Amino acid sequence: MLGLQWGDEGKGKVVDFLAPQYNVVARFQGGPNAGHTLEFDGIKHVLHQIPSGIFRNDIRNIIGNGVVLDPVIFKKEVQELVQYGIKATDNLFISKKTQLILPTHRLLDAAYEKSKGAKKIGSTLKGIGPTYQDKIARLGLRVGDVLSDGFKAKYQKLVKKHLEILNFYEAEFDLPPLEEVFFESIEFLKEFQLIEGEYKINQELYSGAKVLAEGAQGSLLDVDFGSYPYVTSSNTTASGACSGLGVAPNNIGEVFGIFKAYCTRVGSGPFPTELFDGDGEEMQKVGHEFGATTGRPRRCGWLDLPALKYAIMINGVTQLFMMKADVLSVFDEIKVCTGYKLPNGEVTEIFPYEVVDIELEPIYKTLNGWETSLDGIKEFDALPENLKGYTEFIESEVGVPINIISIGPDRTETILREGVAV
Ligand code: GDP
Ligand code: IMO
Ligand code: MG
Repeated sequence: MLGLQWGDEGKGKVVDFLAPQYNVVARFQGGPNAGHTLEFDGIKHVLHQIPSGIFRNDIRNIIGNGVVLDPVIFKKEVQELVQYGIKATDNLFISKKTQLILPTHRLLDAAYEKSKGAKKIGSTLKGIGPTYQDKIARLGLRVGDVLSDGFKAKYQKLVKKHLEILNFYEAEFDLPPLEEVFFESIEFLKEFQLIEGEYKINQELYSGAKVLAEGAQGSLLDVDFGSYPYVTSSNTTASGACSGLGVAPNNIGEVFGIFKAYCTRVGSGPFPTELFDGDGEEMQKVGHEFGATTGRPRRCGWLDLPALKYAIMINGVTQLFMMKADVLSVFDEIKVCTGYKLPNGEVTEIFPYEVVDIELEPIYKTLNGWETSLDGIKEFDALPENLKGYTEFIESEVGVPINIISIGPDRTETILREGVAV
């Protein structure tokens, strides 16, 4: 289950909705840069690293090797859950191959961003980039390392390298208090089930368990396929689920792709359909478009079909889920981008390599809005005609069925099309 845009499509909500039909929920990439919101029984929960199946006692939750885990944020997240009667030690498993985010990774993130000046990525500053950098450079520390006597020495060795870089950037910081909290959190982490994640997930699959892989970020933030360099540092697309969990491609059944009925983006980088007018402000206001991790306002714009088709192609999406349809209820007209005009006047329907360097002028098709509340609607057939029309138009453009339509943040505000298996 993956986000098809720039993140925050509503992945947390969908996992929560689908969870009763699954035995295992697994996170395979990203880390505390993610903020997945679940709303039920009048309470809003935001998860960053813990899979969104944690609220169901009968679900096994796995943090896979592809994730970068911040033990300090992890401890806070687990403690936050206690008040709801959730004891995460029971049904949470962490791969020993998961990379650890150190306090100096976060300091490096800040130093790198500062050095970029106006060209900053708009990172969440959670240390994601520097941690993946160390993973690829074969320097990283992994969760399994915390169990060895040599952990402190390994830690010191890596931190020494980090300090050299931080000094180069003339960064200012006070490391000892951060280290104190870090090592406390490492002790806390040791109380959890630290496992051979790839064996666990394959045993689950062999025994017939249904596994839901929960993506983080979105396809347009993928390090290979996103609007590089304005991306995150992991493969957010379907292949990331294989490498981030140890699941073979032929064990993947369906690929669920989630998109908002419009677009948002938080942080820097290209956004062809971004709105700078009252419509954009309206989307932000009605959709409460503020980051779940950083609280930053999200940039808003109309749905971008070339970008959506691109994400569907890369992921091999078999079913689409459209989120936040209710937010568009305020508009009398709804625009959808069907192509881009390039600076030389040519028209393209592809999401081009040059997206970062050139201005793409979106070409819009205008559809009639429905301008009526969707509150209380439980079935697809009962949706306003123009919303059904909007859904069918997108389906006909992208060639993949939209099987879930979400019309509000709560678990219950979700319409599953009749006769569909998810
Ligand atoms: P995620 O990162 O993909 O899990 O998404 P976020 O949790 O960061 O952002 C999605 C936001 O939209 C959250 O505040 C959700 O509660 C909210 N949300 C999800 N689905 C809907 C919906 O259908 N309608 C409305 N109005 N809000 C929704
Ligand atoms: P979820 O899982 C939206 C964005 C950041 C920044 C870029 C790089 O909640 O959808 P990073 O911290 O990874 O170095 O930031 O990616 N970003 C997200 N935007 N939702 C997310 O996660 C994001 N995770 C990272 O804003 O532009
Ligand atoms: Mg989010």
